Amino acid sequence: MAAYGSTMPEVHETIAEFRAVLDQSRAQGQAIGLVPTMGYLHQGHASLLRQATVDNDLAVATIFVNPLQFAATEDLSTYPRDLDHDLALADECGIAHVFMPTVAEMYPEPILTTVSVAGITARFEGAARPEHFAGVATVVAKLLAIAGPCRAYFGEKDFQQLAVVRRMVADLSMPVQVVGCPIVRDHDGLALSSRNVYLSPGQRAAAPALYRGLRAASAMAATGERSVDAVLAPLRAAVVAAPGAVLDYAAVVQADTLEPAATVVGEQRVLVAVGFGATRLLDNVGLG
Ligand code: PAF
Repeated sequence: MAAYGSTMPEVHETIAEFRAVLDQSRAQGQAIGLVPTMGYLHQGHASLLRQATVDNDLAVATIFVNPLQFAATEDLSTYPRDLDHDLALADECGIAHVFMPTVAEMYPEPILTTVSVAGITARFEGAARPEHFAGVATVVAKLLAIAGPCRAYFGEKDFQQLAVVRRMVADLSMPVQVVGCPIVRDHDGLALSSRNVYLSPGQRAAAPALYRGLRAASAMAATGERSVDAVLAPLRAAVVAAPGAVLDYAAVVQADTLEPAATVVGEQRVLVAVGFGATRLLDNVGLG
């Protein structure tokens, strides 16, 4: 166990130590809530941490910037980190233990076994970042294997990631209940994300266009409009009007399979991805 200032969570750097803590707690009949993160925690993470604390006897978090989910051209080495802040926030949210392994602890050998989820990963973020979801699924599978039976909490902001994790857990019969938590937004509607820190002041001012557009799309669907193009039109227009924004995709999808919808009906989700320079922002809202 490592000591980090006067914060409350116990920090564990080895798999064996973290697993032993959770095994012991389960042996006492405690329900465990696990929140996997890459650190640089914000209020979106805090909502997951708090939910895990409310739902379970023991709430724990992981902080691991997973190299497998970054392409060579992406921001692995500059991914923002602030450990003191993370541990203080985890403490505030009632987190008792934080697993913070090194890359060597997680991947002592070049990894030969990976998990890839077909179908759901073919489009959207999977198309833009071909290696990404195999990296996410592999590290989440590993974290769940280390943690054992638990509830695991993921934010709906990365909606495709949540769908991938749900499907992996179901397909592989993992003894885990996946809990999706609502997006937390800034005062002007921008979905909280660790990557918002990369936005210039001008880009930050323009970025709420995503949520404005999503709300307009949702309002259009609420009028009874069934055409996907008509529902997406105000979203596309909002992004096009935002200075510096480059639309990657805007889509209406089935909420569980992420298959693009032919018409707007039932449990669906509007997804959007926008580039502001090198920074990629994702957002989504539910329909129906
Ligand atoms: O959403 C994230 O922060 C990461 O993709 C996750 C789920 C912690 C896996 O590294």
